Order: sequence, then structure tokens, then C-alpha cells
Amino acid sequence: MLTTKQKTLRHFWYPTLRVDEVAAGPRPFRLMGEDLVLFMTAEDRPAALEDRCCHRTAKLSKGWCDAGLIVCGYHGWTYDGDGVLVRIPQFDPDRAIPKHQVRSFHAQARYGYVWVALEEPLAPIFDIPEDSDPGFRRIFQFYETWQTAPLRLMENSFDNAHFAFVHQATFGDAKQPKPRVYSIEETDYGFKATTVVDILNPPAAHAVTGTSDPTTTRSMVNHWYLPFARRMDMTYPSGIRHIIINVATPVADGEIKLVQLLYRNDTEADCPTEKLIAWDATIVHEDKEVLESTSPDAILDVQRRIEAHMPSDRPGLIMRKRLLDLLHAHGEQEVTYQY
Ligand code: FES
Ligand SMILES: [Fe+2]
Repeated sequence: MLTTKQKTLRHFWYPTLRVDEVAAGPRPFRLMGEDLVLFMTAEDRPAALEDRCCHRTAKLSKGWCDAGLIVCGYHGWTYDGDGVLVRIPQFDPDRAIPKHQVRSFHAQARYGYVWVALEEPLAPIFDIPEDSDPGFRRIFQFYETWQTAPLRLMENSFDNAHFAFVHQATFGDAKQPKPRVYSIEETDYGFKATTVVDILNPPAAHAVTGTSDPTTTRSMVNHWYLPFARRMDMTYPSGIRHIIINVATPVADGEIKLVQLLYRNDTEADCPTEKLIAWDATIVHEDKEVLESTSPDAILDVQRRIEAHMPSDRPGLIMRKRLLDLLHAHGEQEVTYQY
């Protein structure tokens, strides 16, 4: 499934750049193959426009902001947050500005990121109650470019059968290849999958898990939000909550931004941010290595049914079905090329 070919996927919100970066903008961002420029308007709301001046096609992201407007660096044509041309510096002051506009997209600030939807959104940005809960801290954990497809990251996020293989150097127990089964509840936004995972707890993980026992468990409530977002809500027996939000923002076919936030109900003194990033980075990069080796264009596996031989992977099968249903409901077929 190539994300730029599936138009329905343009109707969802994706995190792009940090709000503080955009505030220092303008900044370019590529979303589903579309080159955008992001900046803040005079009302302090994010704006996302096509990164192409309608005069002589220069990239607007190479220009600058002036009182919440964006100025093209080539001849100074100036646009507002809706992409409307509001100033041509070469015109005499009494000359009317012709009606020109560059394309604009939906943009809003949430959880420290600017989220963009290329077309009318089909669903709101999902709620993260912990973001406004003083009992939790928010950590900007990862913001990285991966050469993989968003669906590959989502499959991986619910695939507990890879722990004993991909993660045997960190928390995976190579002697336990058969994971416990998920219990799954489908929802309007995707599904909620609950399970318990037995993990190894090496010394580097002690502050993260809140225990020095050699093994421990994670009680996981894992949510999937169509199409490419996941909330992994883990509770350790120590009472520590470790809630990972990750979104695979589709940049282009076979390329994503991994945007990952972490919420914890402990303090910096209990476990420093640096340590939380370092431990999860080791794990996440084990996934990156294998995911970058997968095919971004693989079909949704409805024909191959490989997961049918792997009883632990009901989430993968449901995910495929829901994505196909979504495409069909909007009059689209899945477009694939290689299989
Ligand atoms: S190309 Fe942008 S003002 Fe001329
Ligand atoms: Fe993994």
C-alpha cells in the first residue's frame, strides 16, 4: 500500500513539526508527497500552505514571516494563513491586489506539534488525557525519519511475536517465542487491544520499570487510531505508567516521520528524561533496523494470510480489514504495485 496513492489517507491529521520550530518559521515539511510550508499567523495559529509561490514558483519556505504573513523571498509577494495573496511590493499603494491564492490545508497545534490534514478530516485528533493531567510529564521522545511505510510501523506496534527475536538484546525473552494472546475490542477509531507481556528487566531498565527484579511484566492497553497512530499504555507492577504515543506520519511512499511522545506518572528525580530516551531508543532502533528492510508496498496480506498461522496476530488482521473497509467506503481500492 503506497500512501500517496490512497486519497482517503489525506483526510486524517498527522503531526508534522514542533510548534516551537514553526513559531521560528517558516519551515518546510513534506506530507504524503506534498511540499508544505508551515508558519504561525498573527493570531498565533499554525498555517499550512503549498510550498510554491504563485508568481514564479519559488518555495515560500525560503522566504520569511512578517507579522503573521509569509513573504516570498524572490519578489516579496505576501500571503496570509489561508494562502490569499495580500501584498505585491512592486505595486503602487492604490493598485488593487489581484485575486491569487496558493492552496491551504487544515492545521492545528496539539501536544506540542503542528498537526496537518490535507483534506477535510474524517476524525478529530485523538485525545490524550494525560497531556493536561498534572500527575504526568510529557517527554518529546523521538522525531526521526525512517525509510519504511506507516502501515509497517503500525503492524509492528501490535505484533508481540517479534519481541523474542528483534528485541532479544533488550527486553525480549528468546526462550519465549510464543506471546500471550491479545483481547481485542473494536471501536469507531480502530481498536483497543489488551494483554500482558513478560519481559526481561536488565539493570539499564530498572529506573524505567521501577523494579530491580530480573524479570517483570507489562500490562498493556494498546490503542490503534486509524490510520497510523498508536497509544501504548503500559503499567508495570511498580505502579509506573509508561504511555507511548507514536504516529507514523507519511512523508512519501516508503518514508515516515516517527513522532513519539512519552507520558510518565513519575518525576525527573525518579527516572531522568535522558535515561527514558536512551532505553527506549535502543528498543526503537532494533525495530527500525528490521522495518527498514520490509517492503513499503506490500499488500494488506488478505491473500497471503500469513498471520492466520500466527494466532497472536489478530491485531494485524483486524488492522488490514479496517483499512480496506475505510478505502472501500470512500470508493477506493487498495493500490499496490509489487505483489
Ligand atoms: S516567485 Fe514569489 S514573489 Fe516572485
Ligand atoms: Fe518492537
